[in-house]
Amino acid sequence: KPKVAERVADLRSEVGRFHAAGEKVAIVPTMGALHAGHLALVREARARAERVVVSIFVNPTQFAPNEDFSRYPRTWDADMRLLADEGVDVVYAPARAEMYPDGFCTRLDVQGPAEGLESDFRPHFFSGVAIVVAKLFLQSEADFAMFGEKDYQQLKVVTRMVRDLDLRIRVVPCATVREPDGLALSSRNRYLTDEDRAKAPAIHRALQAAAAAIHQGQEPDRAAETAADTLSANGFAVDYVAARHAETLAPLEGRAEPVRLLAAVWLGKTRLIDNIGL
Ligand code: PAJ
Repeated sequence: KPKVAERVADLRSEVGRFHAAGEKVAIVPTMGALHAGHLALVREARARAERVVVSIFVNPTQFAPNEDFSRYPRTWDADMRLLADEGVDVVYAPARAEMYPDGFCTRLDVQGPAEGLESDFRPHFFSGVAIVVAKLFLQSEADFAMFGEKDYQQLKVVTRMVRDLDLRIRVVPCATVREPDGLALSSRNRYLTDEDRAKAPAIHRALQAAAAAIHQGQEPDRAAETAADTLSANGFAVDYVAARHAETLAPLEGRAEPVRLLAAVWLGKTRLIDNIGL
């Protein structure tokens, strides 16, 4: 069974022992409510490093007051069973006051890949992600950090932050895990009604259709617009469907640039995001 560390000092002493034995450590930051997408990250972590730390912390600073922080699924017992089966060494589960002690007042202002897309709809989000991820990296002193492409903009923001702050950790991207019908696994999928769950694979299908159209020579912004129209016509409320530079996430300028298609849509009260490369 994994050791549970609730304090920074306990986490550090566990990781310190691993490092003293010459072992590499990989961390998988999560908010719990674990599914096969998270477990794929854990397996990649295992493949990279002798020791694996999984953090479970529903980070209040990345939720706006009107968002789902209080109803975000918390499934501790099931999470622990899954992580035990995966042979995870340490589960880091800090209390809110351990992560954000009284008087906490430091912010990280992330720009570049953090601009636009999610930030247009969740302006608080990436500064909250950046501060908690920077703290997790500094607290754990891990050698590798696994991040899913499912949250592609987050992956790029974190990768850029590590480079900008010279953090001694390597961010490893992991492919998106999908249901057989194409829906990207997400802790928020469990909010979906049966009817909405049946509709949800249309997101991935619309992105695939846009990618195919671009391959056949359609202009990427136009293809993204068509995907947005298709989703709107099928009962989704579209925040955005966008074609962006796959590395910087800047709007596209030339034809030779690598393209990523990214989408955020609502099905009822549930907000889902997805993306694909070309
Ligand atoms: P959470 O949504 O729990 O996701 C944790 C990690 O799992 C992220 O790197 C995410 O991209 C990855 N992940 C989620 N669904 C996936 C899927 N279907 N396939 C592959 N990877 C997937 O993202 C967060 O938590 C938080 O913002 C966090 C980074 C922990 C900071 O609070």
